[in-house]
Amino acid sequence: MRLETDILVIGSGIAGLSFALKAAKKHKVLIVTKKEQAESNTNYAQGGVATVTSPDDSYELHIKDTLECGAGLCHTDAVEQIVKNGPHLINELIELGVNFSREQGKLDLGREGGHSRQRIVHAKDLTGKEIERALLHNITNHKNITVLEHHTAIDLITEHNIKKRKPTGSINCYGAYAYDEINDDIITILSELTVICTGGIGQVYLHTTNPAIATGDGIAIGYRSGCKIGNMEFVQFHPTSLYENKINPTDGQSFLISEALRGAGAILKTKNGEEFMFKYDSRGSLAPRDIVARAIDSEMKKHGDDFVYLDITKLGEEKIKNKFPYIYKKCLSIGINMAKDMIPVVPAAHYICGGIVSDLDGRTSMNRLFVLGEASMTGVHGANRLASNSLLEALVYADKAAKICCVDNAKPKKSNIKIPDWDSSGTENAEEWVLISQNKNEIKQIMANYVGIVRSNLRLHRALRRITLIKDEIESFYKKTRINRELLELRNMALISYLIIRSALMRKESRGLHYSTDYPETKRSYLKDTIITNKTVK
Ligand code: SIN
Repeated sequence: MRLETDILVIGSGIAGLSFALKAAKKHKVLIVTKKEQAESNTNYAQGGVATVTSPDDSYELHIKDTLECGAGLCHTDAVEQIVKNGPHLINELIELGVNFSREQGKLDLGREGGHSRQRIVHAKDLTGKEIERALLHNITNHKNITVLEHHTAIDLITEHNIKKRKPTGSINCYGAYAYDEINDDIITILSELTVICTGGIGQVYLHTTNPAIATGDGIAIGYRSGCKIGNMEFVQFHPTSLYENKINPTDGQSFLISEALRGAGAILKTKNGEEFMFKYDSRGSLAPRDIVARAIDSEMKKHGDDFVYLDITKLGEEKIKNKFPYIYKKCLSIGINMAKDMIPVVPAAHYICGGIVSDLDGRTSMNRLFVLGEASMTGVHGANRLASNSLLEALVYADKAAKICCVDNAKPKKSNIKIPDWDSSGTENAEEWVLISQNKNEIKQIMANYVGIVRSNLRLHRALRRITLIKDEIESFYKKTRINRELLELRNMALISYLIIRSALMRKESRGLHYSTDYPETKRSYLKDTIITNKTVK
């Protein structure tokens, strides 16, 4: 099947949906999404959107906190852009129907690690879900927006797919091939602009707060087509995911215990009840995430413990239930009453600060291709993202990109190039599906054991050798096998792991989220992003 649209959006989180709503004022937009439209990383974001709305706060303070947290690698122009555009985009969300929490009529502002002020606009402890609900409500029945669920993007369509037209200069994106899971078919989607909004990569790790869909598809697709990829070594581990003494059957997704709890006074303690964070940072339990996650990792190793505790009992049952109803209910379901018991927590992979390199408007290094949200590397997060800056970044860049697309003549002209359909000849249904689950588990184990919070050259090289082997094995299996979603995801996970390891090996220092025992110092003068480009695009 072939479809044509003005703009193709791949992914249905906050970046994709808010961009689509704005771009659809002028254009036909087609959104493809791997599962149901509401399933995205956004949906699991508990904390909120960091924005300056209080009289005791200022843009300067929010910018300063973001730059400090980013450990020298943030792009200041990108940071200024998100901070200064935050307040009006929050108002737009309110106009769209998002119900943010309020106290006496005013926005109730939470606090999280690394923030010097209360500035997190939130909807109790389910902010992402509430924003996603409101955006989907506005998108449903929109005359210019079509959503295709259960469609997984396979690869971008560029000059490389067009026989006898190998690229001579810059590469253009003409759309994407996508796998339609319901009809077991591969469709060709032709678009004048394509926007990658596929979210994160958490699933390459054994324990992650991300849902099963977070397999890094957009970044992998971008890399294969020749886009610049940046800063993949900076994987953020959220310090506090719920320790449940088992791997969650839903693809290792751990339940997030929001940083907002620490903002409301929760304290990290060892298993024997000792508060430990002040040994590591004067901000205690509210230090930035890289510091807290490393401190927890170090305490667990020192004591041989599987978890540490988060103690919020002091806040009292009524406030806990009112502010954190979702987390309270989840904890209660496994026998923990947050008002009386401490919560066992462990760090888990949560967010990637790197991704497809974009400019201040979300443009990638490829013509006719934009990237928004977690799949992008805008320079906002540097070496460590400040809590609750990610939804803000997605909103601001979606707004910028949509403005560009809606300016007259900004859209590329229709191309007359003949695009071939997907060629499945020579592929067969796989018999050895065990290879897929086995490879997936291996990738997760390797990444958890060798490419986690604390890294070393020895571990990274070991991981690189193993992942390269697995990646090559999957690639040859992929070439002769009929496509399905699991196979596409596995192929992307192997590639993402490879990119993370290669980037980590390129950074010969410790900075932000990347800590190496071989290079424990931060090189003050080395302020470079780690850039990787695929030199062998076929
Ligand atoms: C949280 O609620 O702790 C997550 C917020 C974020 O990752 O920004």
